[in-house]
Amino acid sequence: MEKIIDDNKQGNTLTTAPRLGNNKKLLIESYGCQMNFSDSEIVASILAKEGYNTTQELEEADLVLINTCSIREKAEQTVRKRLEKYNAVKRSNPKMKVGVLGCMAERLKSKFLEEEKIVDLVVGPDAYKDLPNLLSEVESGREAINVILSKDETYGDISPVRLQSNGVSAFVSITRGCDNMCTFCVVPFTRGRERSRDPQSIIQEVNDLAAKGYKEITLLGQNVDSYLWYGGGLKKDFKHATEMQKATAINFAGLLDMVAKAQPKMRIRFSTSNPQDMTLDVIQVMSKHRNICKYIHLPVQSGSNRILKAMNRQHTREEYFELIDNIRRIIPECAISQDMITGFPTETEEDHQDTLSLMEYVKYDFGFMFAYSERPGTMAARKLQDDVPQEVKKRRLMEIVDLQQQHSHYRTRQFLNQTVEVLIEKESKKSDAHWSGRTSQNTVAVFPKEHYKVGDFVNVRIDDCTSATLLGEAVGYSQNN
Ligand code: SAH
Ligand code: F3S
Repeated sequence: MEKIIDDNKQGNTLTTAPRLGNNKKLLIESYGCQMNFSDSEIVASILAKEGYNTTQELEEADLVLINTCSIREKAEQTVRKRLEKYNAVKRSNPKMKVGVLGCMAERLKSKFLEEEKIVDLVVGPDAYKDLPNLLSEVESGREAINVILSKDETYGDISPVRLQSNGVSAFVSITRGCDNMCTFCVVPFTRGRERSRDPQSIIQEVNDLAAKGYKEITLLGQNVDSYLWYGGGLKKDFKHATEMQKATAINFAGLLDMVAKAQPKMRIRFSTSNPQDMTLDVIQVMSKHRNICKYIHLPVQSGSNRILKAMNRQHTREEYFELIDNIRRIIPECAISQDMITGFPTETEEDHQDTLSLMEYVKYDFGFMFAYSERPGTMAARKLQDDVPQEVKKRRLMEIVDLQQQHSHYRTRQFLNQTVEVLIEKESKKSDAHWSGRTSQNTVAVFPKEHYKVGDFVNVRIDDCTSATLLGEAVGYSQNN
């Protein structure tokens, strides 16, 4: 997903408007990618029908669910610490039940129940509809587990309960799973094979959000550009589809066009794009619609062809540059961001220099950078030795983080003395007299509140900036308002 929430940060607990008649209390805490946050909204919706309202108070919860991330070892350690905390509370409130959801549930399966005995319930990412059954097992004193991965579950028929929402932006998931098998990545194992959601249910959810006053949606998937709807089923089975299904299939460019047309006043974002699957059609659809934000999160992971190959990324550095050139030619104002991994097995100083020079070429607007963390079961863990010393990984990481900061600042400076459209999302963290919102390019902009309010589209003249934030003054409503 676009942004991996910092592994060190506390997870977010989510609350929602109480449903009348519900008398049980659910605390749901989410870690990891945006997909997990979106999944928690589906879980809250399923459990609202089972009598649960959400709470943020651990002490009063009847059920505590933790939606977990396995992407790096540190993410898993954070979750383990939280489970210890829940168990300490549970000792004084034995009625409280604890469940693990998401990628760690899928990866560790019954290990949580059998060896560690720290949870009552283990539910993988495709099994949330089974929660009511699993909970009745738990209530009758048994442990419950469902980690079956599905061929076609997309939760397209569930209307998510919007949790911790500012009422302005919402996530809409469009694909689940991933077929790419990057050698470092645990996601294909924890989230299963790729499948796409029915476009009609996507449009319906977007229309519902618009009717509720939402102004911006982000279409979510591990690899949105490989979206392909042909009537259901796994992406890899498309070759067996009927001629009719093949002729009427809808790809990501088609979906994006449909969504942009359905709600021309809504901002449309999407995440994440895999370079190998991003086509010219998608870039052209982006340039055609004013309401599709001019921002692409385009993880590359490394600038070295040798490492890209070892990672099983399906493109070269040169092909990546070609894609970047096409984006810049068709949408000159487009912002681009990266994910990068330092210290993948066998990475040499020369490979690292290739990463730095690739960054120099692109000058990304933002970046999310990580030291390689070996994940059990992945191809890299099975075939390659984690041989780059920790301090070398860290030093290389610092070098790319520093370079990214320079590039981010270079990008924010381009906005100086310009007037940009900002969608107001919330109060600035640093000042209650200022609003904070984002430009189409996803850059944060902060400006005095005046008479404007959350959800307004405002033109802001930019007169100062840091590497991460634009500072300015509103000059009026934008035409989108
Ligand atoms: N396609 C997904 C990727 C999810 S993982 C998406 O939607 O973004 C997000 C990022 O975590 C990856 O792009 C990669 O940079 C990083 N990552 C994944 N596995 C990792 C590992 N084993 N060690 C370090 N970083 C990793
Ligand atoms: Fe992971 Fe690569 Fe898919 S990073 S989520 S296997 S595109």
